[in-house]
This record gives sequence, C-alpha cells and structure tokens, in this order.
Amino acid sequence: MSKQFDVIVIGGGPGGYIAAIRAAQLGFNVACVDEWKNAAGGPALGGTCTNVGCIPSKALLQSSEHFEHAGKHFVDHGINVKGLELDLGKMLARKDQVVKQNNDGVAYLFKKNKITFFHGRASFVKAADGGYELKVAGAAEEAIVGKHIIVATGSNARALPGAPFDEENILSNDGALRVGAVPKKLALIGSGVIGLEMGSVWRRLGAEVTVLEGLPTFLGAVDEQIAKEAKKAFDKQGLKIELGVKVGEIKSGKKGVNVAYTNAKGEAVSLDVDKLIVSIGRVPNTVGLNAEAVGLALDERGAITVDGDCKTNLPNVWAIGDVVRGPMLAHKAEEEGVAVAERIAGQHGHVNFNTIPWVIYTSPEIAWVGQTEQQLKAEGRAYKAGTFPFLANGRARALGDTTGMVKFLADATTDEILGVHMVGPQVSELISEAVVAMEFKASAEDIARICHAHPSLSEATKEAALAIDKRTLNF
Ligand code: FAD
Ligand code: NAI
Repeated sequence: MSKQFDVIVIGGGPGGYIAAIRAAQLGFNVACVDEWKNAAGGPALGGTCTNVGCIPSKALLQSSEHFEHAGKHFVDHGINVKGLELDLGKMLARKDQVVKQNNDGVAYLFKKNKITFFHGRASFVKAADGGYELKVAGAAEEAIVGKHIIVATGSNARALPGAPFDEENILSNDGALRVGAVPKKLALIGSGVIGLEMGSVWRRLGAEVTVLEGLPTFLGAVDEQIAKEAKKAFDKQGLKIELGVKVGEIKSGKKGVNVAYTNAKGEAVSLDVDKLIVSIGRVPNTVGLNAEAVGLALDERGAITVDGDCKTNLPNVWAIGDVVRGPMLAHKAEEEGVAVAERIAGQHGHVNFNTIPWVIYTSPEIAWVGQTEQQLKAEGRAYKAGTFPFLANGRARALGDTTGMVKFLADATTDEILGVHMVGPQVSELISEAVVAMEFKASAEDIARICHAHPSLSEATKEAALAIDKRTLNF
C-alpha cells in the first residue's frame, strides 16, 4: 500500500521547503521529495539557493570583499596590513560550511514541522484515487500518493550551444563557486546578476576578469541612472565589461579556453582565458518529472504553465518558483510557496508581484523595487523623481564608502511611490523600507516625514524622498 499524504512537495529549494512548512503549519500531512546530493551522496536540502546559488555566492562575496578591504582599503583607516595572503582552500571550506549549516537548518525545520522527507527523484506515475501517484527513485524505489502536489523543481543554468558545461574549464554557477585556484584570466559570458556577482568575487581575489555581454545596454532591467552609476564603479574597479558582443566559437583545451567574439565595433577578437563562466540565464527544470504521464502542461520555454494563483492545468497540482513564469528569485519562490499552501487550506494567499525586491550583491550593491524611470516614460505616466547621493551621507563617509545614490519615483499627482532604486553601500538592507512603503501604498512624503536614525545610511532614503519635493536638507 502506497504512503498517502495530503500534500506532496517536489523539490526542497526555497519554494518547496517553505511551501512544505506552511502546509504543515496549516495542519496537513506533508511530504517533500528532493534529489540534491551532497559530496558524500547524502541529502542536501535547500535547492539551488542553498547549494549553488544565493548562499554560497554571498559567502564568497563576503570573504572576497574582506580580502579586498584588507589589501586596498584598510590603509585608509590607518591600518597597515603586511604579508596579506589568500588561503583560497580555507575560504572555499568556510563557504561549504555555511552551505552545510543551511542544509542542516532545513532538515531541522522538517523534523520540527513533522514533514516526511524522501531523498530521491520524484516523477508522476498516474492520477490515482483522490490524487496523484508519484514514484520516488532514491536509494530504494517507492510509490507515494498525494491529494495535492506542489511542483517546485527549480531551474538549471543555460549552456551556450556548442559549449557544454564541463565544470573544469567551462563553468556554470556550480563550478564558478568552487574553482580550486584563482584563475589568472577569467571570462564570463553574460553581464547579468551572476556575471556581476561571480565576476566581482574572482576579480577581488586577483583574476583579470572580462565580462562579455550580448546586449548593447548594461543591466537593461535596472533604472538607467542607477545602472550607469554602477557601471562607473565597476569600470573603476577594473571589471572589464564589453557590451554588444557576439560570441562565436568556444574552444576548450588543456591550456584553458579560447573565446572568439565580435566586439561592438564589429572587430573579431580572440580571447584566451584560464576559465570561462557562462551566465546567460537559467532554464526551468522539469527533467525527469514525467509531466507527460499526467498531461501536465508546459509552455514554449519549458516552464510549467500556471495561472496567477500557481494553479496548473491539472486539478490539485500547483507549481511555484523558478519552474514557473516570473523572476527567478528565492524570495519570489518562497512567497508563492506560502500562498499555495494557504490556497490549499481554503485561505486567500496572495503574492504582490509589483513589490518583489531585486538585489545584486556586488560592491556597490544594487537594489530596487517597483518601476524604473524608463518604464514610467514608456507608459506615459506623469512622475516626479528625487535622488540623494551617499556622498552627502555622514554614515557613508564614516564607512569610507560614498559611492552611489538612492532614487525615488513618485506619481506626479498623488505622490504615491512607484519605484525606489538604489546603488551603494548596504542597499540590500535599505530596500526593505521601500518595499514596506510600497505595500502600504505610501507617498514619498510619508517617508520624508518619518524619523530616521542618525547617522545611518537610511537617512539617504529619507532625503531621496524629500528630493521628490526638491527639499533635501543635506544636499
Ligand atoms: P531550486 O532552489 O532550484 O530547488 C529545486 C529543488 O528541486 C532542487 O533541490 C532540485 O534538486 C529538486 N528537484 C528538481 N527536480 C526534482 C525531482 N524530479 N524530484 C526531486 N527533486 C527534484 N535568488 C535570490 O533571491 N537571491 C540571491 O542572492 C540569489 N543568488 C543566486 C546565485 C546564483 C549563483 C544562482 C544560480 C541563483 C541565485 N538566486 C538568487 C536564484 C535562486 O537560487 C532561485 O530563484 C531559487 O533557488 C529558486 O527556488 P526553487 O525552490 O524554485 O528552486
Ligand atoms: P541574467 O538573466 O541575470 O543575465 C544573463 C545575461 O546574459 C543578460 O544580460 C543577457 O543579455 C546575457 N546573454 C544572454 N545570452 C547571451 C549570449 N549568447 N551572449 C552574451 N550575453 C548573453 O542571468 P544569470 O546571471 O545567468 O542569472 C540567472 C538568474 O539567477 C537571474 O536572472 C536571477 O533571477 C537569479 N540570480 C539572482 C541573484 C540575486 O538575486 N542576487 C544572483 C544570481 C542569480
């Protein structure tokens, strides 16, 4: 007799594990199936985010930033460092430890919430009495039946045609996080989020980094003024970003990788590097799910087709996170997970796609929520803009990092905040205030009238809100 559950979640990434926890909190008998293996072949809950995404990349961004500060910036504070050395092995081991703490954290949460965990690959078998039968292929094979199925199988790195990932020379995000020695020369294809974050890590650790971007504009989805400011900072750091390139043949051999490309001027360039990271986006992962067995519909990109409520074409089958439409972000996956569990319980779970924040964890950090100035212009919406530079912020001066600005966009008539865009120190944390404000439909003046601690970077947020009405106090 197959084991029966109210809810089975396929995938233990941020979408899946959060959906499982919320469903368990709501009183359901829940199972989660995840196939990720750690180096020893055991389970490693947390998905892409925990194992080869958000968490390890942020650990290396932190470590490499310390290294760069010790080498280049401590001296400004009167701290002279002699004999600075990089122990890359230890840095990578620390990153692995941080990953493990997070893997263990999810396993603990499953126990705490009495969620049954299966380690293995789940695939659809058939619609069964009152639900769906799944096969779990792990150490053993077993059949389980769930009344509701939540598919949260995530995404995989997209490879360039003709240049498959070997994780030795041609690296996906996985290999990019465990290069054993700092490459002398490193190329990245794609100057999106991974290109900039991973490019920053290896540049700080000593690699000569070239980022090749197909589009003629830098960070097209980011507010233009903010993207321009960020680009200036990256150029100054020596991160070489070439826009408008057309990548041609890629040859990988014992000595490294040769990338042939045509630059924006139409010139043919041949670039030899030790390693190549390909970061040109990700593809939804439905490999091995056997969606056909039950007629689960996919769209032309291979994503599972869902409506605004994450309902698929099948009754009681839901899909969330990277495997469906929308931004591929951990917190978006989590919000969808909570909302779906609540919908299964007959509640009114809701995700506001207009207030999902984005953060790029480079230095300077880039963060935004809501609409960009170019989007408002394209819509023909009447708006007011206000900016405040960190150069005029006391805390930023004390930190020794005055790069960047905060920018507010508000409706010209009602003053409702339409978008907030930031580039500068610790804006990954500052953006939350803007998200809260937009969720509460605040006006720019609401923020301008709130007391912000002094000295703090958040004063730049208040001042940018004041700038909407041309009444900054410190600039
Ligand atoms: P995933 O995290 O991909 O999890 C899916 C899980 O399902 C995996 O464990 C997989 O093994 C399992 N699985 C798949 N198929 C099956 C099956 N048939 N049976 C059993 N198990 C299966 N997002 C942010 O918000 N902030 C960041 O800072 C950030 N940094 C990133 C850095 C990098 C380098 C990368 C690659 C991504 C980053 N992301 C970041 C994106 C983030 O990782 C994803 O948006 C997020 O992990 C999506 O969550 P998910 O639950 O949909 O899928
Ligand atoms: P991306 O979509 O951010 O960027 C891909 C870039 O590659 C784009 O600029 C695109 O124009 C370019 N490109 C595509 N094909 C190309 C080609 N053939 N030649 C040259 N350039 C080409 O994708 P990325 O960086 O791979 O990251 C995937 C996703 O993972 C992100 O979109 C994001 O959702 C998530 N992520 C989020 C992070 C965060 O929140 N801080 C960090 C890292 C990843």
